[in-house]
Amino acid sequence: MKTENEYHRPVLLHEAMELLAARAGGVYVDATLGGGGYAETMLAAGAHVFGFDTDLAAWHVASARLAKFGEQFVLVKENFAKLYDAMRDHPLLKKEGAGGWLDGIVYDLGVSSHQLDTASVGLSYRVDAPLDMRLDPRLKTSAKEIISNYDETKLKEIFRNYGEEPYAGPIARKIVQARMAGAIETTAELAAIVTQGIREDKKNETLSRIFQALRIEVNDELGNLRSSLAQAVGILRPGGRIVVVAYHSLEDRIVKDFFKNESRPEFAAGSLGALKERIDLSSARLKVLTKKAVTPSAEEIERNPRARSAKLRAAEKV
Ligand SMILES: C[S@@+](CC[C@H](N)C(=O)[O-])C[C@H]1O[C@@H](n2cnc3c(N)ncnc32)[C@H](O)[C@@H]1O
Repeated sequence: MKTENEYHRPVLLHEAMELLAARAGGVYVDATLGGGGYAETMLAAGAHVFGFDTDLAAWHVASARLAKFGEQFVLVKENFAKLYDAMRDHPLLKKEGAGGWLDGIVYDLGVSSHQLDTASVGLSYRVDAPLDMRLDPRLKTSAKEIISNYDETKLKEIFRNYGEEPYAGPIARKIVQARMAGAIETTAELAAIVTQGIREDKKNETLSRIFQALRIEVNDELGNLRSSLAQAVGILRPGGRIVVVAYHSLEDRIVKDFFKNESRPEFAAGSLGALKERIDLSSARLKVLTKKAVTPSAEEIERNPRARSAKLRAAEKV
């Protein structure tokens, strides 16, 4: 079995935990359990932790690691988009007050090193594997189905919107032409098609964008994040915190905009009074704790190159 750090080395652990400020007896959600590095820190502080993940290996590794905390830890084998449904009936949370009852929630988005390095679901173009990409085996549509069935326009949109790929159109066309000659079954086959005619030194960055785009589409990653953040604000107690670590600009933008919108007082419609009277100060639900995103130190990036794109943002329920 892999050691904890071989499975996944937590990114921005210290910074995320400092902002979450988990306290003994409090109830927290780790929305992306992974290898359990974040959860262990919260549990060691005496908190109760509900750990969400959809990945079988994460369930095993984190459960074994966290078994020593007994009932303080609850494994939730669910997508974090099901946050509210999974939490609402738990006895620990029945003690709720009117303003919500969760003390904090942390998201460390994306995938673990283990998921990237293992061949099983084909997340990385560096490892040849069946073209699947489902982080939750219960999902219906795999990357192979998308590559086989989406029309050229839809493929182009995915590559452009989720991969920010400048050559989304030509790449979509190459895929549609190639699949007429036979099904595209593996990550290596897809990588060979995508990189046809692309300069050697541009191949890896193009593949990263295309694989990112497909993974986002397969797993509805942006939709899940938006939905889960909205649920999280609803179930946090006043003073409870949301901490999010994102690894690409699309996710980070969703978090940044969400925090901004939720922390801005609304203009009450229809009022003719002075400007200050038209601002409903009671409507802001969050206070942003990180004016600028927190990023890893040069030393952390040196130790763990996968940390390099991480951006952490945090907010507190008011
Ligand atoms: C970067 S890792 C988290 C690492 C963790 N903080 C640690 O300390 O080991 C991300 C994890 O989130 C899980 N994940 C991604 N999207 C998810 C979702 N929508 N719902 C639940 N888990 C998700 C992945 O399966 C993966 O295990």
